[in-house]
Amino acid sequence: MRYYPVFLDLAGQPCIVLGEGKFAIEKAASLREAGADVRVIASREYRTGDLAGARLVVDASEDPEVNRRSWQEAEEAGILINVVDRPAQCRFIAPAIVRRDPLLVAISTSGESPFLASALRARIERWLGREWGPFTALVGNVRRQVRERGVPIAQQTRIFRRIVNSETRSLIRLGRPDDAAHLAVAIAQSGAGGTGRVALVGAGPGDPDLLTFKARELLADADYVLHDALIAPETLALCGPDARIEDVGKRAGLESPRQEDITARLIELARAGWAVVRLKGGDPFVFGRGGEELADLVKAGVEVVVVPGVTAALAAPAAAGISVTMRGVASSVAITSAQGSRSMDRLRALALASDTLVVLMPRSNLAEVAAVLAGAVGASRPAAVIGSATLPSQQSVSGPLDRIARLADQAAIETPATLVVGDVVAAAPALAVLPNSSVDGGFV
Ligand SMILES: C[S@@+](CC[C@H](N)C(=O)[O-])C[C@H]1O[C@@H](n2cnc3c(N)ncnc32)[C@H](O)[C@@H]1O
Repeated sequence: MRYYPVFLDLAGQPCIVLGEGKFAIEKAASLREAGADVRVIASREYRTGDLAGARLVVDASEDPEVNRRSWQEAEEAGILINVVDRPAQCRFIAPAIVRRDPLLVAISTSGESPFLASALRARIERWLGREWGPFTALVGNVRRQVRERGVPIAQQTRIFRRIVNSETRSLIRLGRPDDAAHLAVAIAQSGAGGTGRVALVGAGPGDPDLLTFKARELLADADYVLHDALIAPETLALCGPDARIEDVGKRAGLESPRQEDITARLIELARAGWAVVRLKGGDPFVFGRGGEELADLVKAGVEVVVVPGVTAALAAPAAAGISVTMRGVASSVAITSAQGSRSMDRLRALALASDTLVVLMPRSNLAEVAAVLAGAVGASRPAAVIGSATLPSQQSVSGPLDRIARLADQAAIETPATLVVGDVVAAAPALAVLPNSSVDGGFV
């Protein structure tokens, strides 16, 4: 069955509810809320002919004989009828509703699962805060103003996009409706011009469910998304349908955009008034060059917001069951990278200074890294390599430092991978019991 969705204007229209139970009371109340002129007829008082002149009928009598007669009468008279809980005797069905008047979201499973409809409603309720009601009304006012001024449609669209991307909704949520209205009107009056904004957003370690709520909202509303190489397609699928997506990822061995070109592009787009998301793997400020980009954008006078992400440095061990500061085992953790000049000296010093050492980008020179660390803290120190953490292809191996590189090769662990070194690795519950594939090389 396919339904044609509509919202009915029943203000002042004659509507009839049959029945006297809980459903009948609820249906009559919601019809009255929509301004309908409602008459309630108790089941035993209903006579064929009573429905004459009604626009719409809800039969909540729960009486099969009344159901049969009301359906027949309504069909013959061409009146829209819903016989509660009898899909075959319904000319319309009532959706689950999220109300943020004047915004109204209706959800239907075409009668397949009322449970699913209300579960979805609960989700949307949580997602659409109360501020969406007054925000919708405010956007409606702005729309009437720009139409009166004869602003061309393409420019109107940009104005609304900028209002959606602005702080207007937050101001309403903070109880400052007048400031919100001023901001929306100012955006409408500045036309499509004015400056845009760059959001430096962390995409988390891979699993799209690990994006923050704020990251999701910014992606959904962005005009442009400039992303790194490691961003999963499922994450990019969270971008709005009109977003323009540019891959500016740096890939070893391939020609990749230069940092200054990426920054120049961000500045160019923001100055043209676009809402730009610069999407980076993990957290933008953990070996992500987010700090440099922020400094350059601020210097160029571009408005920037920073949205932290779940860093792989913590998510990769966590996804393999390794608690980096397990009580009684470790009370300090250091995060570093295996790349760059003097990285070996740094690794040696950090391995000695911290209980747990997390090494990013270790894969290309893992044997050398492990040998240096073994020289510092001993060949039997527990280590683990976790590849593609939080993704369906997650893999991990663990074993002593002097065997970890071989184990990672044998398991064909690829990039992105993270190395964790410290007693917390041995203290983790058997990695093999976790859902993703792992190899425990033993710590003998
Ligand atoms: C250039 S750094 C960026 C780190 C990122 N900003 C963060 O906070 O996660 C890339 C390194 O992060 C680690 N990494 C990123 N995603 C990972 C994943 N899903 N599993 C394991 N390690 C990952 C790897 O060590 C990879 O070489």
